[in-house]
Amino acid sequence: MSLIKDGKYSPVDSGVIGELTEIMGSENVSFDPDKIRVYSRDEVGGQFWESDYLAEVVVFPRNTEQVSALMRLASRKVIAVTPRGAGTGLSGGAVPAFGGIVVSFEKMNRILECDPVNLTATVEPGVITAEICRAAMPYGLQYAGDPCSGDASFIGGNVAENAGGNKVIKYGATGANVLGLEVVLPSGEVTWFGGKRRKDVTGLDLVHLVAGSEGILCLITKVIVKLVPLPSCIVDLLVPFSTMEEAISFVPKILTESRIVPASIECMNKNSLKIVSRYIGSSLPFEEAGAHLIIQLEGNDPDSLADDYERLGQACLSSGALEVFVADNRNSRDRLWKARKSVAEAVMAFYTRYAKEDVVVPTSEVPELMREVDRICEHYGLEGVNYGHVGDGNIHVNLLMEEDRPDWKSVIESARMELYSVTARLGGTLSGEHGIGLKRKKYMTIFLDEAQIGLIRRIKKAFDPLGILNPGKIVD
Ligand code: MLT
Ligand code: ZN
Repeated sequence: MSLIKDGKYSPVDSGVIGELTEIMGSENVSFDPDKIRVYSRDEVGGQFWESDYLAEVVVFPRNTEQVSALMRLASRKVIAVTPRGAGTGLSGGAVPAFGGIVVSFEKMNRILECDPVNLTATVEPGVITAEICRAAMPYGLQYAGDPCSGDASFIGGNVAENAGGNKVIKYGATGANVLGLEVVLPSGEVTWFGGKRRKDVTGLDLVHLVAGSEGILCLITKVIVKLVPLPSCIVDLLVPFSTMEEAISFVPKILTESRIVPASIECMNKNSLKIVSRYIGSSLPFEEAGAHLIIQLEGNDPDSLADDYERLGQACLSSGALEVFVADNRNSRDRLWKARKSVAEAVMAFYTRYAKEDVVVPTSEVPELMREVDRICEHYGLEGVNYGHVGDGNIHVNLLMEEDRPDWKSVIESARMELYSVTARLGGTLSGEHGIGLKRKKYMTIFLDEAQIGLIRRIKKAFDPLGILNPGKIVD
């Protein structure tokens, strides 16, 4: 079923299909119902959508010219267009809320250039994020964006969502690693925001307006990312603590007392460890501990890195750590990160009744947030699988219901609303990296005032006066 709401958008009729086929070639235009179903979803569970949102057609452009011609057609006919990366999104950002055309960027997947002088890579939006690292490696360089989905997600989707991930504390989120974007505006015009330049105050910073704009302003057709030196030694510390409170209280000391800037500081509570070991079939040590930290250190000199991790390990033990495990080879590091990166999948594999959240608070407020999360879980009889990017104050709070209660939706919704009100009180916000999309749109007014929401609407209108690009996302 497609939703052509209030006659606002025109349907994709045979005339439109004919024009799309002319622009893209018939092999790049699909209205096969199975394909349409797959390309109308992301990783948000079905519990969120009241309707079965479906595209009318899916197209697979191969270059910027085709994207531009597509947008000229969509503007002329007033057809809804929803851009899509690899479908790993967690907010319904790629769900076609008004039917129309889904644009998959999977065939625009070339790495166009690695430039070791300017320390940049220029890539198409359908490149898998981890591939950029592989391409940069022969130059002794890396792309530092590291979302948990990096082996599957596309760089275009990462930019659209301003994906964060595990190395934000040292390198920043995706936007901080992007220097330039070629974009197609809803009118079909093609332009560049930014470039290979390291500094640019000519006009407004449109690169970083588009990063995180969830595909409502323009379509990204090329990305210039920063590359940074690839460290020659990496060590991960796995540090169990008796309680989450102790683990979290140690986090600021890493930077202030040990004076080390790790690449990652992640945490997993006891329930996260349990669910993930059930899912991947192997467990991490000290599964009964209240919480584990994962701290990743990078360097080029093995001796000085060893000094750093020994000093940090001592500081952990002095702050109540039960043990410090050092993963300093590929196997042990992969095992550790597989566990960390599989928590989200484990939740979705074992539960259907849950709130899967992405709140952020100032780092000083993380202990209070976690106390409140425990209180909320107890009050509503929910399990809390809480983990994430503790170094950034970005915690994935998962409120899970074991039992099959008829009122599960309203119980989880009440718990979610309490979590949001606590988060707002602590100076936090709704989403750190998963985005607003369709899923969180109705909660925006808890965190942003009318002045800001009005401004977002006017910016959207300035880019997209007909409202054809990714309609129904972020704000109405
Ligand atoms: C993660 O940190 O594991 C990812 O953001 C995925 C998630 O939490 O759902
Ligand atoms: Zn995350």
